Amino acid sequence: MERLQKVIAQAGFASRRKAEQWIKDGKVTVNGQVVKELGTKVSASDKVEVSGIPVERQEKVYFLFYKPRGVISAVSDDKNRKVVTDYFPLVEERIFPVGRLDYDTSGLLIMTNDGEFSNLLTHPRYQVEKTYVARINGIPKRHMLKQLETGVELEDGKTAPAKVKELSADKRKQRALIEITIHEGRNRQVRRMFEAIGFEVQKLKRERYAFLDLKGLNAGEYRELTAHEVKRLRTLAETGSLR
Ligand code: URA
Repeated sequence: MERLQKVIAQAGFASRRKAEQWIKDGKVTVNGQVVKELGTKVSASDKVEVSGIPVERQEKVYFLFYKPRGVISAVSDDKNRKVVTDYFPLVEERIFPVGRLDYDTSGLLIMTNDGEFSNLLTHPRYQVEKTYVARINGIPKRHMLKQLETGVELEDGKTAPAKVKELSADKRKQRALIEITIHEGRNRQVRRMFEAIGFEVQKLKRERYAFLDLKGLNAGEYRELTAHEVKRLRTLAETGSLR
C-alpha cells in the first residue's frame, strides 16, 4: 500500500506537493470515487485517476546511460532525430531522461520512469554535483578560470561557485581541456560560462553525476543503478549534503 500523493508523483504527473493539492481540490479518484483525504493509501489494484486520466503504475527502473553526441535528451523527436530512448529497445517501462544534456554533449545521463525521483534530482534547490570536461578553443589564464570558480554573469543571473581545473593545454593547437564541476543545471550552462570568459566549447562531456561515473561503459551503453545508488542519490538530493 502506498500513499495516494506518492503514487501520483511517482507516475511523473507532478511533484508530491502538487499531487496533494489536486487531492484536496477533488481532482483525484480512486476506483471512481473522489478522495480528498491526503493520508489515503492505495494498493496496486486500485484504479487511480487525476481529472479522469489514469495514473499508470509501473515498477520503477533506474539506469545510468552513457549518452553519445548527436542524440537528443528526449523520448521522441518530431524531426526523427535519434533520441536517448532509442538506446533502450528492450526496456518496456516508459523511461525518460533526468534533466538533459545538449544534442552535442556526451556523457552521463540518468534514465528512469520515476517522476518523483526525477523531480527531486532536478529541483533547483538541491542539485547534485555534475562534473564536465570541456575542450575549449584557447588556453585560459588562471584569473579567467578563477572567474568561473567564483561565478560569471549570464543573462539568467550569476552562476554559483564552481570547481575548475585545467587538465591539459596544447599550445601548438591552441586548445585546452578543462574540468568543471557545477551543481546548477541551467540550459547550456557550461557552454555559456566559457563564452562569458571568451572561449568556445568545442567538445563537452559529462564525466560524473554526484558519486557516479562512466566506468565500464562505452558511448551508447547503459547499466542499471543499484538500489543502494538510487537511495544515495535520493538522500543527496533531499538533504543537499555531500555536495
Ligand atoms: N552544460 C552545457 O552547456 N551543456 C550540457 O549539455 C550540459 C551542461
